[in-house]
Amino acid sequence: MTHLITLISGDGIGAEVIPAARTVLEALDLPLRFQEADAGFGTFERVGDALPPATLDACAASDAILFGATSSPMAKVAGYQSPILNLRRHFDLFANLRPAVGEGVDLLIVRENTEGLYSRRERVEDGGATAIAERVITAAASERITHVACEQARARRGKLTIVHKANVLKETCGLFRRAAFGVATDYPDLAVEELLVDTAAMRLVQDPGRFDVLVTTNLFGDILSDLAAGMTGGLGMAPSANVGAGHPALFEPVHGSAPDIAGQGIADPRAAILSAAMLLDFLGYTEAASALRRATYATPHTGNTAHTARAILAQMERDGAHV
Ligand SMILES: NC(=O)c1ccc[n+]([C@@H]2O[C@H](COP(=O)([O-])OP(=O)(O)OC[C@H]3O[C@@H](n4cnc5c(N)ncnc54)[C@H](O)[C@@H]3O)[C@@H](O)[C@H]2O)c1
Repeated sequence: MTHLITLISGDGIGAEVIPAARTVLEALDLPLRFQEADAGFGTFERVGDALPPATLDACAASDAILFGATSSPMAKVAGYQSPILNLRRHFDLFANLRPAVGEGVDLLIVRENTEGLYSRRERVEDGGATAIAERVITAAASERITHVACEQARARRGKLTIVHKANVLKETCGLFRRAAFGVATDYPDLAVEELLVDTAAMRLVQDPGRFDVLVTTNLFGDILSDLAAGMTGGLGMAPSANVGAGHPALFEPVHGSAPDIAGQGIADPRAAILSAAMLLDFLGYTEAASALRRATYATPHTGNTAHTARAILAQMERDGAHV
């Protein structure tokens, strides 16, 4: 049996880091097949759709998706929607897993991926003088994300931190908090605590070693995971997984399309390669995933995208991993 992986480079440095990740995956002795598909702002400009139906079909037929990056303009562009947000929604990839590993840091942020302030319920009133965003939190989404976080904590060091702002956002965060603690009672083996999001941000900086798994809502998770990335080698080292109940799942570096360095072949491919390692874990190739992760963390970025990918493979060979 082989596993089919859809590669979507997307925009900017996606076109550099995804081929680098492919080179590494292809060098591993695993039954993987690859197909490429288009998405992103460049695709939107070419064909009028940032996520064409053919790409959705390719993704639906595959076991996993490796996505580079998309460029999303600040101003509204009629007809453009982020393909990443649409892929998450289409395949109900409700859990966003963002590990951060570095000196004295080994934590995982589990971010709810489908609702919260990213529910696309924004409007303007008073002729544009007032802008309003609605924050949607449901018990069902809060419970299922907490289940994922509890399972991850169980497989790691057994500690879960529930992050919210229920002292101010009494309805939305109040519901998230109640649902999360309700689920956590099914995991009596875990050490469960709660932190307000602002306190969590401060403790992440002051004492990151105290954290194992954090679970939180969409926007808070987005910000805290970039903070954690910044503490552990920056965006060039930050991978992520978007998982749902089945296949496909989607793996992507946390960084964006980095237009300031795109096209120069200097992007750090390690976040994309660490995302590929998460993909291997998801497909059950846990030994290869660990070997790839070990080699990637041990390899500095050479300043050249393709060279760094080859250096990671050379490190795997030195480690005795099967390449
Ligand atoms: N998931 C995604 O696809 C995603 C995420 C964030 C931003 N974006 C989009 O990307 C575009 C640029 O956004 P931004 O500048 O805020 O974020 P960015 O992550 O693209 O870049 C931020 C900074 O980090 C650097 N950087 C990022 N990845 C790097 C890498 N692999 N190696 C070396 N340096 C790297 C960039 O050069 C830049 O200076 C925007 O259009 C934004 O909407 C997309």
